[in-house]
Amino acid sequence: MRTPRQDRPASEDSETAAFGFRKVAAETRQGLVNDVFSRVAGRYDLMNDLMSGGLHRLWKDDLITWLNPPRSGRPFALLDSAAGTGDIALKALSDGGPGCRAILCDINPAMLQVGRDRLRQAGLADRAALAIGNAEALPFADQRFDAITVAFGIRNVTRIDTALAEARRVLKTGGRFLCLEFSCCDVPMLDRLYDFHSFEVIPRLGALAAGAAEPYRYLVESIRKFPDQRRFADMIAAAGFGRVSFRNLTGGIAAIHSGWRL
Ligand SMILES: C[S@@+](CC[C@H](N)C(=O)[O-])C[C@H]1O[C@@H](n2cnc3c(N)ncnc32)[C@H](O)[C@@H]1O
Repeated sequence: MRTPRQDRPASEDSETAAFGFRKVAAETRQGLVNDVFSRVAGRYDLMNDLMSGGLHRLWKDDLITWLNPPRSGRPFALLDSAAGTGDIALKALSDGGPGCRAILCDINPAMLQVGRDRLRQAGLADRAALAIGNAEALPFADQRFDAITVAFGIRNVTRIDTALAEARRVLKTGGRFLCLEFSCCDVPMLDRLYDFHSFEVIPRLGALAAGAAEPYRYLVESIRKFPDQRRFADMIAAAGFGRVSFRNLTGGIAAIHSGWRL
Protein backbone atom coordinates (compact mmCIF):
# COMPACT_ATOMS: atom_id res chain seq x y z
CA MET A 1 0.00 0.00 0.00
CA ARG A 2 1.40 3.37 -0.97
CA THR A 3 -0.60 6.34 0.23
CA PRO A 4 0.07 9.31 -2.03
CA ARG A 5 1.34 12.42 -0.38
CA GLN A 6 -1.42 15.02 -0.35
CA ASP A 7 0.48 18.21 0.21
CA ARG A 8 -1.31 20.97 1.94
CA PRO A 9 -1.07 24.25 0.05
CA ALA A 10 1.57 26.65 1.45
CA SER A 11 -1.28 28.83 2.57
CA GLU A 12 -4.81 27.51 3.00
CA ASP A 13 -7.60 29.58 1.49
CA SER A 14 -9.18 31.65 4.20
CA GLU A 15 -12.36 29.61 4.51
CA THR A 16 -11.28 25.97 4.46
CA ALA A 17 -8.38 24.04 5.92
CA ALA A 18 -7.16 20.46 5.89
CA PHE A 19 -7.84 18.41 8.99
CA GLY A 20 -6.00 15.22 8.17
CA PHE A 21 -7.43 14.15 4.79
CA ARG A 22 -10.69 16.02 5.42
CA LYS A 23 -11.45 19.59 4.45
CA VAL A 24 -13.09 21.58 7.22
CA ALA A 25 -14.06 25.19 7.78
CA ALA A 26 -10.86 27.02 8.76
CA GLU A 27 -12.38 28.48 11.91
CA THR A 28 -13.37 25.03 13.21
CA ARG A 29 -10.02 23.31 12.56
CA GLN A 30 -8.16 24.44 15.68
CA GLY A 31 -11.03 23.19 17.87
CA LEU A 32 -10.77 19.76 16.22
CA VAL A 33 -6.98 19.72 16.77
CA ASN A 34 -7.48 20.72 20.41
CA ASP A 35 -9.94 17.83 20.88
CA VAL A 36 -7.32 15.42 19.55
CA PHE A 37 -4.68 16.56 22.03
CA SER A 38 -7.10 16.82 24.96
CA ARG A 39 -8.02 13.18 24.31
CA VAL A 40 -4.43 11.93 24.10
CA ALA A 41 -2.68 14.19 26.68
CA GLY A 42 -2.53 11.59 29.48
CA ARG A 43 -1.08 8.93 27.19
CA TYR A 44 0.85 11.19 24.83
CA ASP A 45 4.36 10.32 26.05
CA LEU A 46 3.71 6.58 26.21
CA MET A 47 2.15 6.60 22.74
CA ASN A 48 5.06 8.58 21.29
CA ASP A 49 7.43 5.86 22.46
CA LEU A 50 5.19 3.05 21.21
CA MET A 51 4.45 4.61 17.83
CA SER A 52 8.03 5.63 17.03
CA GLY A 53 9.81 2.76 18.79
CA GLY A 54 11.62 5.46 20.81
CA LEU A 55 12.95 7.17 17.65
CA HIS A 56 11.35 10.49 18.58
CA ARG A 57 13.78 10.71 21.50
CA LEU A 58 16.79 10.47 19.16
CA TRP A 59 15.29 13.08 16.82
CA LYS A 60 14.67 15.42 19.75
CA ASP A 61 18.26 14.86 20.93
CA ASP A 62 19.39 15.92 17.43
CA LEU A 63 17.32 19.08 17.72
CA ILE A 64 18.94 19.96 21.05
CA THR A 65 22.41 19.20 19.67
CA TRP A 66 21.72 21.63 16.83
CA LEU A 67 20.26 24.21 19.24
CA ASN A 68 23.39 23.89 21.39
CA PRO A 69 22.17 25.85 24.42
CA PRO A 70 25.08 27.53 26.26
CA ARG A 71 26.54 25.41 29.08
CA SER A 72 27.74 28.53 30.86
CA GLY A 73 25.68 30.92 32.96
CA ARG A 74 25.18 33.15 29.89
CA PRO A 75 21.49 34.14 29.70
CA PHE A 76 19.67 32.24 26.99
CA ALA A 77 15.91 32.61 26.55
CA LEU A 78 14.21 29.73 24.74
CA LEU A 79 10.61 29.61 23.60
CA ASP A 80 9.35 26.10 22.97
CA SER A 81 6.21 26.70 20.93
CA ALA A 82 3.54 23.97 20.72
CA ALA A 83 5.51 22.56 23.64
CA GLY A 84 3.01 19.84 24.56
CA THR A 85 4.28 17.77 27.45
CA GLY A 86 7.64 19.54 27.44
CA ASP A 87 10.17 17.11 25.95
CA ILE A 88 12.19 19.83 24.20
CA ALA A 89 12.30 22.25 27.13
CA LEU A 90 13.24 19.41 29.49
CA LYS A 91 16.15 18.39 27.26
CA ALA A 92 17.30 21.96 26.60
CA LEU A 93 17.25 22.85 30.30
CA SER A 94 19.09 19.69 31.34
CA ASP A 95 21.76 20.21 28.64
CA GLY A 96 22.04 24.00 29.06
CA GLY A 97 23.74 25.90 31.85
CA PRO A 98 22.10 27.87 34.67
CA GLY A 99 21.50 30.88 32.38
CA CYS A 100 19.25 28.81 30.12
CA ARG A 101 15.54 29.47 30.71
CA ALA A 102 12.54 28.19 28.78
CA ILE A 103 8.96 29.18 28.24
CA LEU A 104 6.69 26.34 27.19
CA CYS A 105 3.81 27.72 25.16
CA ASP A 106 0.93 25.58 23.93
CA ILE A 107 -2.70 26.13 23.05
CA ASN A 108 -3.80 23.08 25.04
CA PRO A 109 -3.81 23.33 28.86
CA ALA A 110 -4.12 19.53 29.27
CA MET A 111 -0.80 18.96 27.44
CA LEU A 112 0.95 21.76 29.38
CA GLN A 113 -0.30 20.33 32.68
CA VAL A 114 1.60 17.11 31.98
CA GLY A 115 4.64 19.24 31.08
CA ARG A 116 4.44 21.13 34.36
CA ASP A 117 4.42 17.88 36.38
CA ARG A 118 7.41 16.55 34.43
CA LEU A 119 9.43 19.76 34.94
CA ARG A 120 8.76 19.59 38.68
CA GLN A 121 9.78 15.93 38.85
CA ALA A 122 13.00 16.74 36.98
CA GLY A 123 13.80 19.63 39.35
CA LEU A 124 13.78 22.09 36.43
CA ALA A 125 10.61 24.05 37.19
CA ASP A 126 12.51 27.08 38.55
CA ARG A 127 14.06 27.70 35.11
CA ALA A 128 10.80 27.24 33.19
CA ALA A 129 7.48 29.02 32.79
CA LEU A 130 4.27 27.93 31.09
CA ALA A 131 2.06 29.99 28.81
CA ILE A 132 -1.18 29.06 27.13
CA GLY A 133 -1.10 30.57 23.67
CA ASN A 134 -1.67 30.08 19.97
CA ALA A 135 1.45 29.82 17.79
CA GLU A 136 -0.39 32.06 15.31
CA ALA A 137 -0.63 34.91 17.86
CA LEU A 138 2.14 34.43 20.41
CA PRO A 139 1.50 36.23 23.71
CA PHE A 140 5.01 37.74 23.83
CA ALA A 141 6.68 41.05 23.03
CA ASP A 142 8.80 41.50 19.90
CA GLN A 143 12.43 40.27 19.95
CA ARG A 144 12.20 38.51 23.31
CA PHE A 145 13.86 35.12 22.65
CA ASP A 146 17.32 33.86 21.68
CA ALA A 147 15.85 30.73 20.13
CA ILE A 148 12.49 29.19 19.26
CA THR A 149 11.87 25.49 18.90
CA VAL A 150 8.77 23.79 17.53
CA ALA A 151 8.71 19.99 17.62
CA PHE A 152 5.92 18.13 15.86
CA GLY A 153 3.70 21.16 16.41
CA ILE A 154 3.73 23.26 13.24
CA ARG A 155 1.67 20.83 11.15
CA ASN A 156 -1.16 21.18 13.66
CA VAL A 157 -1.39 24.93 13.16
CA THR A 158 -4.04 26.18 10.72
CA ARG A 159 -2.07 29.09 9.20
CA ILE A 160 1.55 27.96 9.07
CA ASP A 161 2.78 31.14 7.37
CA THR A 162 1.23 33.22 10.19
CA ALA A 163 2.91 31.04 12.83
CA LEU A 164 6.28 31.41 11.08
CA ALA A 165 5.90 35.19 10.97
CA GLU A 166 5.03 35.18 14.68
CA ALA A 167 8.09 33.07 15.49
CA ARG A 168 10.28 35.57 13.65
CA ARG A 169 8.61 38.53 15.39
CA VAL A 170 9.41 37.30 18.91
CA LEU A 171 13.01 36.23 18.04
CA LYS A 172 15.88 38.60 18.78
CA THR A 173 18.01 39.67 15.83
CA GLY A 174 20.62 36.90 15.54
CA GLY A 175 18.16 34.42 17.08
CA ARG A 176 17.44 31.00 15.68
CA PHE A 177 14.28 29.12 14.74
CA LEU A 178 14.48 25.32 14.79
CA CYS A 179 11.60 23.14 13.73
CA LEU A 180 11.43 19.35 14.01
CA GLU A 181 8.59 17.86 12.00
CA PHE A 182 7.64 14.70 10.16
CA SER A 183 8.60 15.08 6.55
CA CYS A 184 8.89 13.22 3.29
CA CYS A 185 10.66 9.85 3.25
CA ASP A 186 11.91 8.94 -0.19
CA VAL A 187 14.14 5.96 0.58
CA PRO A 188 12.76 3.01 -1.46
CA MET A 189 11.30 0.25 0.75
CA LEU A 190 11.63 2.39 3.87
CA ASP A 191 8.82 4.60 2.50
CA ARG A 192 6.56 1.55 2.04
CA LEU A 193 7.34 0.21 5.46
CA TYR A 194 6.68 3.64 6.91
CA ASP A 195 3.31 3.90 5.13
CA PHE A 196 2.29 0.47 6.39
CA HIS A 197 3.32 1.39 9.92
CA SER A 198 1.51 4.75 9.71
CA PHE A 199 -1.82 3.64 8.30
CA GLU A 200 -2.10 0.05 9.53
CA VAL A 201 -0.15 -0.12 12.80
CA ILE A 202 -0.45 3.30 14.46
CA PRO A 203 -4.29 3.59 14.50
CA ARG A 204 -4.49 0.01 15.87
CA LEU A 205 -1.89 0.83 18.51
CA GLY A 206 -3.95 3.90 19.40
CA ALA A 207 -7.07 1.78 19.78
CA LEU A 208 -5.28 -0.83 21.90
CA ALA A 209 -3.07 1.32 24.10
CA ALA A 210 -5.06 4.54 24.30
CA GLY A 211 -8.59 3.29 23.60
CA ALA A 212 -9.08 5.47 20.49
CA ALA A 213 -7.91 5.08 16.90
CA GLU A 214 -9.36 8.33 15.55
CA PRO A 215 -6.89 10.85 17.07
CA TYR A 216 -4.00 8.74 15.76
CA ARG A 217 -5.52 8.57 12.29
CA TYR A 218 -5.57 12.40 12.28
CA LEU A 219 -1.92 12.52 13.40
CA VAL A 220 -0.85 10.21 10.58
CA GLU A 221 -2.94 11.98 7.94
CA SER A 222 -1.70 15.40 9.01
CA ILE A 223 1.87 14.20 8.41
CA ARG A 224 0.99 13.38 4.79
CA LYS A 225 -0.54 16.80 4.30
CA PHE A 226 2.53 18.65 5.54
CA PRO A 227 4.80 20.23 2.89
CA ASP A 228 7.96 18.32 2.01
CA GLN A 229 11.44 19.47 3.11
CA ARG A 230 12.06 21.92 0.27
CA ARG A 231 8.62 23.48 0.28
CA PHE A 232 8.76 23.97 4.02
CA ALA A 233 12.24 25.53 3.72
CA ASP A 234 10.76 27.94 1.12
CA MET A 235 7.96 28.85 3.53
CA ILE A 236 10.49 29.61 6.28
CA ALA A 237 12.46 31.81 3.90
CA ALA A 238 9.25 33.53 2.76
CA ALA A 239 8.53 34.40 6.40
CA GLY A 240 11.76 36.41 6.41
CA PHE A 241 14.26 33.99 7.95
CA GLY A 242 17.79 33.86 6.58
CA ARG A 243 20.31 31.04 6.07
CA VAL A 244 17.51 28.47 5.94
CA SER A 245 18.67 24.86 5.92
CA PHE A 246 17.40 21.43 6.90
CA ARG A 247 18.65 18.00 7.92
CA ASN A 248 16.85 14.77 7.20
CA LEU A 249 16.43 12.25 9.99
CA THR A 250 15.90 8.53 9.38
CA GLY A 251 15.68 8.81 5.60
CA GLY A 252 13.50 11.92 5.72
CA ILE A 253 10.77 10.44 7.93
CA ALA A 254 11.45 13.55 10.00
CA ALA A 255 13.49 16.67 9.31
CA ILE A 256 14.87 19.57 11.30
CA HIS A 257 14.63 22.98 9.64
CA SER A 258 16.71 25.91 10.78
CA GLY A 259 16.39 29.62 10.05
CA TRP A 260 17.89 32.77 11.55
CA ARG A 261 16.46 36.18 12.21
CA LEU A 262 19.22 38.24 10.61
C1 LIG B 1 2.33 16.40 18.50
S1 LIG B 1 2.28 17.51 19.86
C2 LIG B 1 3.98 17.95 20.07
C3 LIG B 1 4.32 18.24 21.50
C4 LIG B 1 5.81 18.41 21.79
N1 LIG B 1 6.36 19.57 21.11
C5 LIG B 1 6.59 17.19 21.43
O1 LIG B 1 7.45 17.26 20.56
O2 LIG B 1 6.37 16.14 22.04
C6 LIG B 1 1.60 18.95 19.11
C7 LIG B 1 1.28 20.06 20.08
O3 LIG B 1 0.91 21.23 19.33
C8 LIG B 1 -0.08 21.90 20.07
N2 LIG B 1 -0.78 22.85 19.18
C9 LIG B 1 -1.66 22.55 18.20
N3 LIG B 1 -2.06 23.69 17.61
C10 LIG B 1 -1.42 24.70 18.22
C11 LIG B 1 -1.43 26.11 18.04
N4 LIG B 1 -2.17 26.70 17.10
N5 LIG B 1 -0.67 26.86 18.85
C12 LIG B 1 0.10 26.29 19.83
N6 LIG B 1 0.14 24.96 20.05
C13 LIG B 1 -0.62 24.17 19.23
C14 LIG B 1 -0.95 20.79 20.62
O4 LIG B 1 -1.76 21.23 21.68
C15 LIG B 1 0.11 19.76 21.03
O5 LIG B 1 0.51 19.94 22.34
